[in-house]
Amino acid sequence: MSSAAASPTVLAPNDLEAYWMPFSANRAFKKEPRMLVGAKDMHYVSSDGRRLIDAAAGLWCVNAGHGREPIVRAIQDQAAEMDFAPPFQFGNPKAFQLATRVAALAPGDLDHVFFANSGSEAVDTALKIALAYHNVSGQGARQRLIGRVRGYHGVGFGGISVGGMVANRKTFGPGLAGVDHLPTTYNRAEQAFTRGEPEWGAHLADELENIVGLHDASTIAAVIVEPMAGSTGVLPPPRGYLQKLRAICDKHGILLIFDEVITGFGRLGYAFAAERYGVVPDMICFAKGVTSGTVPMGGVVVRKPIHDAFMKGPEHVVELFHGYTYSAHPLACAAGLATLALYEDEDLFGHARRLEDGFADAVHGLKGLPNVVDIRTVGLAAAIDLAPIDGAPGKRGYAATQETFHRQDMLMRVAGDTLVISPPLIATPAHIDEIVEKTAGAIRAVA
Ligand SMILES: Cc1ncc(COP(=O)(O)O)c(C=O)c1O
Repeated sequence: MSSAAASPTVLAPNDLEAYWMPFSANRAFKKEPRMLVGAKDMHYVSSDGRRLIDAAAGLWCVNAGHGREPIVRAIQDQAAEMDFAPPFQFGNPKAFQLATRVAALAPGDLDHVFFANSGSEAVDTALKIALAYHNVSGQGARQRLIGRVRGYHGVGFGGISVGGMVANRKTFGPGLAGVDHLPTTYNRAEQAFTRGEPEWGAHLADELENIVGLHDASTIAAVIVEPMAGSTGVLPPPRGYLQKLRAICDKHGILLIFDEVITGFGRLGYAFAAERYGVVPDMICFAKGVTSGTVPMGGVVVRKPIHDAFMKGPEHVVELFHGYTYSAHPLACAAGLATLALYEDEDLFGHARRLEDGFADAVHGLKGLPNVVDIRTVGLAAAIDLAPIDGAPGKRGYAATQETFHRQDMLMRVAGDTLVISPPLIATPAHIDEIVEKTAGAIRAVA
């Protein structure tokens, strides 16, 4: 059936039925599979033996590039030395070392790290810490959580409740009670074809004052936003927006959570977007890039006063009734330590920062191609909105996924009718040119 099955070199499975694929068009995939069997540096290898340039860093996570030797070795060595250690009431040294390293990268007094295994778990952890913090601080009435339209915070019930992607919410019931949403910061009429952070839109943060006016600050626990909304198509924050949110949260005693699952570890040229924007949130959710996607890991960096508020009462008693069997898994910790060392040794965040201008020039060069209705760039992330086919939203985008994979030899993330570019941070200008050229080819092919 597929070209993969016909491969002379790599056997693809001949029964694709049992695996229910996540966030995938299962039936279309199984008719024409896109099977990946190898990866090195900037490239994947498909099951029919082609080298595909990775324009997506896997799924926004392989920031150090694929198959990097120091990370591979660290994982292999750790698997041989100690496979697992229970994280409840016991420790493994690398968990403490990694927490120290991550905390050192975070701004201000964000100096304690709670480990989870994914972005979704990181988000639910942060929301729970926010609720519990107010509880232990004598403000237990603060139970409302505020997200944002077009936000993505993973797929846990907490995350979809504060999230703002309709398809991820509408079939799963009402979600958490007491959730409200800020408006999206995206407005095509005001912002189309902006490089970096748009000038228009900081005033949208003032909507938080209206939400406070409606519910009263004494009922609101936290606001959670992505500094740059990634999954709904690279929406950089309007200039001054995050600063305003911080000021309003401070005024009302509301915690501010940055979901940096995508923006953490170099995507915007800094360890965290909080640093790029000079805004210190109360918690930062991270995942993906912390291990460069090699072993699942997520977590939350928490400000000292929040952590310290829990450290009272009898010392033999658990302070926070939360955690995962695989929190701070030894393989993930080993991978994380090796990954952070590689980022530092190769100055990959600085490299991303230095590439940003050339990357923006190249991607904005796609303006004028058929159906291109907006382009946004920030850091090493870009999105190209294509006009949907009348009556069939997402169909042009799906064709682009097929075109890039099967004919342009490129792995590209497409969300709806939006093409997204987020290469590993080891990309060179030549890689960027190649990615943009192939993107142009795909845009023409699906016109
Ligand atoms: C901002 C943000 N939060 C949370 C998540 C969920 O992460 P995971 O898929 O690891 O659960 C993602 C995933 O893309 C994300 O972009």
